[in-house]
Amino acid sequence: MDNRRYHITTFGCQMNKADSERMAGILDDMGMTWIEDPFAADLVVYNTCTIRDHAESKVYSYLGKQTKRKHTNPNLTLVVAGCVAQQEGEALLRRVPELDLVMGPQHANRLGDLLEQVFDGNQVVATEPIHIMEDITKPRRDSKISAWVNVIYGCNERCTYCVVPGVRGVEQSRTPEAIRAEMEQLGQQGYKEVTLLGQNIDAYGRDLPGITAEGRRQNTLTDLLYYVHDVPGIERIRFATSHPRYFTKRLIKACAEMPKVCEHFHIPFQSGDNDVLKAMARGYTHEKYRRIIDKVRHYVPDAAISGDAIVGFPGETEAQFQNTLQLMEDIGFDMVNTAAYSPRPNTPAALWDSQVDEATKKDRLQRINHLVSRQAAERSQRYLHRIESVMVEDVSPKDPQQVMGRTRTNRLTFCPGDINELKGKIIDVKITEIRPFSLTGERVEALVGA
Ligand code: SAH
Ligand code: SF4
Ligand code: F3S
Repeated sequence: MDNRRYHITTFGCQMNKADSERMAGILDDMGMTWIEDPFAADLVVYNTCTIRDHAESKVYSYLGKQTKRKHTNPNLTLVVAGCVAQQEGEALLRRVPELDLVMGPQHANRLGDLLEQVFDGNQVVATEPIHIMEDITKPRRDSKISAWVNVIYGCNERCTYCVVPGVRGVEQSRTPEAIRAEMEQLGQQGYKEVTLLGQNIDAYGRDLPGITAEGRRQNTLTDLLYYVHDVPGIERIRFATSHPRYFTKRLIKACAEMPKVCEHFHIPFQSGDNDVLKAMARGYTHEKYRRIIDKVRHYVPDAAISGDAIVGFPGETEAQFQNTLQLMEDIGFDMVNTAAYSPRPNTPAALWDSQVDEATKKDRLQRINHLVSRQAAERSQRYLHRIESVMVEDVSPKDPQQVMGRTRTNRLTFCPGDINELKGKIIDVKITEIRPFSLTGERVEALVGA
């Protein structure tokens, strides 16, 4: 048994969060114990993100403090995992020689083996592409109610701004059987909600065999949803992230048909201008995006729709930026994650000489964010006085007398209640107060004899 105390700090997206939970499970299995304070831990893992420059630089400032500690405490083990590790590889060891292990995201499930090499006295770099092994350790999940389940790793797209294909590697789907088995276990453990994860989840199954009698590819995301839909105990199923290029009507209809699949679609659009979309190599037009949303609203009228957008992409003119705002005006998003374009290593767009200056990017970001909040507020309006079914996840961080959870459409909702009684329950909440990104209400007991 290993009595080290470990800490993992996680940056970036849901994939990284899921990877961290699996890595924590491996460390627990080795006998180590979790400690909240990274500066009191014997083993520290930074699970890093490099999607934008800002995300990457954060890691170096954290590392600076830990390397100082290492000079007085040589037994401290320092690990950099995730996407910066993959991007930098050996170069990271040269830059920060105090590191013991640099490991890319594909190696997360191998943390135990890699640490053994470290404890044998080696400095280890694990960034070679590998076939991702099925994980046999029980992840140490943050929530006891809602769990991430990876369904496809990597990304085969080549969006010209994006580091993900470079750092996460090629698409690798898990088998439907492995996914269902994980979900069944979650159901038995009392989990109520599962979010299926993939950077481009619509690509699920492309690398798996199988064609139906009608000549249709089997093992699509839609097939997977049908296959896992009846897992006992799991009451809500979500999935992310959808790519407009591959999003199908069959998927929308399936979501409308399956009661456990929640009415929320996260479909990044990135831009509302066709020339910008083309330069991004996104593979769709704004007209196609609008058609998708029309279909979603046709089959699932109350669905929440969210997306991601980038402003200040190289060459983006004011008029092109206006096209993005126009798309948003026309659609009315519940939520949009926005970002100013950040040039990234080993991506084509970073080398173009049509870069937009920082002041313009900042100005566009402010304007788009203003619209995001206004639309979110407008979309929140429809909940007022409605009774929403809310799955209680936790106590409210602001008020111990209140619990918080989410509507099926993913709006954060607060209501008075006792967390010990309500955790994991789906309750009816009458919405009395609305804000752009959250709601407040009161619990309504089922109407007796109604
Ligand atoms: N796979 C998803 C999203 C991946 S990254 C998709 O295809 O949409 C999450 C978000 O980060 C992206 O949707 C994009 O909006 C943003 N992003 C990615 N690279 C970026 C960059 N270089 N600069 C700014 N934002 C970026
Ligand atoms: Fe990046 Fe594009 Fe892949 Fe999304 S689809 S992860 S934006 S390359
Ligand atoms: Fe960041 Fe890697 Fe996710 S770069 S957004 S942690 S895939």
